[in-house]
Amino acid sequence: MNAPAYVTHTRLKTWVQDMVHLCQPDHVHWCDGSDAEYQSLCQQLVNAGTFTPLNPAKRPNSFLARSDPSDVARVEDRTYICSARKEEAGPTNNWMDPQEMRRTLQPLFQGCMKGRTMYVVPFSMGPLGSPIAHIGIELSDSAYVAVNQRIMTRMGKAVFDVLGEDGDFVPCVHSVGAPLAPGQADVAWPCNPTKYIVHYPQTREIWSYGSGYGGNALLGKKCFALRIASNMGRDQGWLAEHMLILGLTHPQGKKYHVAAAFPSACGKTNFSMLVPPSGFEGWKVTTIGDDIAWIKPSSDGQLRAINPEAGYFGVAPGTNFHTNPNCMASLDKNVIFTNVALTDDGDVWWEGMEKDSGQLPSHLIDWQGKDWTPDIARESGAKAAHPNARFTVAATNNPALDPAWDDPAGVRIDAFIFGGRRSTTVPLVTQARNWTEGVYMAATMGSETTAAAAGQQGVVRRDPFAMLPFMGYNMSDYFQHWLNMGEQLKTRSGTLPAIFCVNWFRKGEDGKFVWPGYGENMRVLKWMIDRMEGHAQGRENVFGISPTYDEITWNGLAFSAAQFDSVMHIDPAAWREELALHDALFTQLAYHLPPELPATKDAMALRLGH
Ligand code: GTP
Ligand code: SPV
Ligand code: MN
Repeated sequence: MNAPAYVTHTRLKTWVQDMVHLCQPDHVHWCDGSDAEYQSLCQQLVNAGTFTPLNPAKRPNSFLARSDPSDVARVEDRTYICSARKEEAGPTNNWMDPQEMRRTLQPLFQGCMKGRTMYVVPFSMGPLGSPIAHIGIELSDSAYVAVNQRIMTRMGKAVFDVLGEDGDFVPCVHSVGAPLAPGQADVAWPCNPTKYIVHYPQTREIWSYGSGYGGNALLGKKCFALRIASNMGRDQGWLAEHMLILGLTHPQGKKYHVAAAFPSACGKTNFSMLVPPSGFEGWKVTTIGDDIAWIKPSSDGQLRAINPEAGYFGVAPGTNFHTNPNCMASLDKNVIFTNVALTDDGDVWWEGMEKDSGQLPSHLIDWQGKDWTPDIARESGAKAAHPNARFTVAATNNPALDPAWDDPAGVRIDAFIFGGRRSTTVPLVTQARNWTEGVYMAATMGSETTAAAAGQQGVVRRDPFAMLPFMGYNMSDYFQHWLNMGEQLKTRSGTLPAIFCVNWFRKGEDGKFVWPGYGENMRVLKWMIDRMEGHAQGRENVFGISPTYDEITWNGLAFSAAQFDSVMHIDPAAWREELALHDALFTQLAYHLPPELPATKDAMALRLGH
């Protein structure tokens, strides 16, 4: 039970003792982050039936986990921001009075780890000791969480060197909520139908109960790096964003860094690993991060960004050698797969892989452990992999990893991109004419819901800055924070990053995506660089500035002016409806809404000829 001698932080040790007293685990394991520890925990998960080892000849040192079918995605309706006052959480978050929430959680956590081991998981979000990084300690009764955290964060005893005797850390308590009575057999994926994902912004604490999956359980990710960190960022003058970060190098060697916010399962991992198509020889895209960016202004008014994570927890379905070859290469060894299908030769499979092999496998074990054949799939529509099946893999597996991905100083951000999943209305690419219009684009972004969250899929909802499920305080205050940040940067440096809005997902009358996407998105990136370098004039529309057909580099792709028009066209009737939805959002967010946003909308309505 006792802390190892290298832990000298008294407050931390007292907190762990208190939590042991509350949760009553049979054992306490202080994770050191070593490879030997990782291997032994994986073996333990194999023995428990949680992990199936994959064929070492096909997928060395890799495992498949199948979750409980009820525990497959983030649970937004069970996620709470418990600030002192409801207005501080804002209208887009579930809120409960912190005292009341503590009273609610107390009986759930009381004895919740009986029969289990409590893992003490020390982790750094960001390079150890970086001025942009922050530390967390997750207490979890899930070995699956411990091994995932070793991949997703800088996890291990070196964290205690940075913490010293009195350093700051975010306490994160996680339980699957499935205590074992003496002699009671465990199940492969323990969880509880009652779930709570709770944040206390004032005290910067995270408490998660009942789920073992993804963002519900790997508390460094959405809970800390977005919900708690957005609060830290507001107080301390920086940004915690649901953004990938990529490096883009010109054939002549000039390098840009771009941060892009797309909602969950809308293409961040893909875009961050983009392979330029033929016709773009000499251009190079490198990955700094695929999901989260922490961005701090420097004294001379530049934005410096780090990826607080050390691995990717990415969507498997749809990933193949055509859509994302770098990702496929990243997955060749040392991977934890969750809820994908198992092939008869001990490898993994998911929907989309048939594009590589040209055929469906004749037999699989699906994500629920059942037989799957193409006939069964045709008849029942059963998916071999769950649509939110994911892989956990170290960033260092990525062949396109940027050399500066681990740089404690971060990289300089030159442009922001915001992009939702919209089958209609929103053009392929538009540049904001200024910072305020960029903030407007981000704030009013709509997107069709995906399998990344439990609940209905494919319905358009407003997802401001792709942060709707991840905002740790009042959304309107966050818009204000972005506007203030623009003012401050402009004063300090005289310039601001460019802001663009993209939509890869417009569909034609046949219901198919018109834009080929993936590597071809390079053509859009190139236009952005041309804009930033003053080589493309673009054309103004109601929304901002978009490319003419001739301004896009088309070599190597047959894409007609008519097709281009169908992904670019601004339909006035659709935009009137769209602006009405922006209005509805602003009504919902009226408390503290910056007046610049409705003013921008009014100007757009005027241009539209309202
Ligand atoms: P989270 O990890 O949930 O935050 O998601 P993400 O934004 O990283 O999404 P990811 O890159 O994993 O993509 C999710 C889905 O979008 C996959 O099924 C992809 O195949 C699909 N996708 C990604 N990029 C494109 C694109 O350019 N065009 C189209 N049509 N689909 C895309
Ligand atoms: C997302 O849903 O945006 C994710 C996956 O990146 S999870 O970590 O489960 O939140
Ligand atoms: Mn995400």
